[in-house]
Amino acid sequence: MLMSTIIKDQSRNSYMVRTLIQGQSPCLVEVLRVAEIVAVTDVNVLITGETGTGKELLARTIHQASPRYQQPFVSLNCASLEEDLADSLLFGHCRGAFTDAKRDHDGYVHQAADGTLFLDEVADLPLTTQAKLLRFLESGEYQPLGCGFQRHSTARVLAATNRCLDSAVAAGTFRRDLYYRLNVIPLHLPPLRERRSDIELLAVKFLSSLAQHHGLRCPGLSPNAVQCLQKYDWPGNVRELRNLCERLLILLQGQDVQVENLPPVIRNQHDQKTASAGAGFVLPVNGIDLYQLEQDLIRQALASSSGNQSQAARLLGLTRDTLLYRIKKYGIQDR
Ligand SMILES: Nc1ncnc2c1ncn2[C@@H]1O[C@H](COP(=O)(O)OP(=O)(O)OP(=O)(O)O)[C@@H](O)[C@H]1O
Ligand SMILES: [Mg+2]
Repeated sequence: MLMSTIIKDQSRNSYMVRTLIQGQSPCLVEVLRVAEIVAVTDVNVLITGETGTGKELLARTIHQASPRYQQPFVSLNCASLEEDLADSLLFGHCRGAFTDAKRDHDGYVHQAADGTLFLDEVADLPLTTQAKLLRFLESGEYQPLGCGFQRHSTARVLAATNRCLDSAVAAGTFRRDLYYRLNVIPLHLPPLRERRSDIELLAVKFLSSLAQHHGLRCPGLSPNAVQCLQKYDWPGNVRELRNLCERLLILLQGQDVQVENLPPVIRNQHDQKTASAGAGFVLPVNGIDLYQLEQDLIRQALASSSGNQSQAARLLGLTRDTLLYRIKKYGIQDR
């Protein structure tokens, strides 16, 4: 609904991309900046990121911000598809192509017409279908199963995966040439634990829009509850946060959320982090040089995570953005 009202004016693409995908952390804003640029082109985009980071939402947003926005957006989940089924779903089949093919069937490529075809979990596509997809991406040509003729389509392909395609290529389960073809513009959605500054903003937006949806009062979040949410690692990413907001809203019937209302798994992680943060450090009688100590700890964290800034940030209980800020502030070389 929101999409269709905003997209009327294509000159407001940039506004739209930022309205649908909530977040202000520098790493997300950078992804959105690139997404805005590629939205108006026809290039293939490969969206990567852990489960629940918003890959499908980003694909839909790119479509809505593209000149194809009035054409169909067709989404195919490629997970666990047998070879024949994958071929038939994508490229269609003619009557008699296989035992159960009682009539002609148009595939997703045909249905996408001049719009966008979104291939979710693309890493799972069977190898033979990958070869056909590559041919389609290169020429726009494809052949429905059991048909003696070629078809042509101008559908744009966006793909997503939460697996590492480099490893799939190395393992021989994903074609290298298809990988290069799809990966013209890579967009990586960082996990929520690497953009903790977005957690409060997302929770507030979800509570507000879900309250409106369910006809309940919009609840507030106590400062302690916010702190707790920000310390949790969110393995299910934004989806997990959204679902928690919906659960809290319904169970508390719109009352403000206190730390006691959060699930034990979230409270426990917070308690452990708070305990370990204060544990074991006693201020020497002669005092310390806090700035020097901070720099030393940052260096140690970078060294023990072999320069991986996200991992180093986690060891220090900081967001990656905060760590980067401090690395810059102290002029620390991270290699
Ligand atoms: N930045 C965001 N702002 C608002 N909502 C978001 C954002 N990111 C994700 N969501 C919401 O989180 C949920 C999960 O997003 P989505 O389905 O796009 O994730 P995904 O990366 O495709 O997950 P999966 O790998 O499991 O398929 C959806 O309800 C989506 O609308
Ligand atoms: Mg998805």
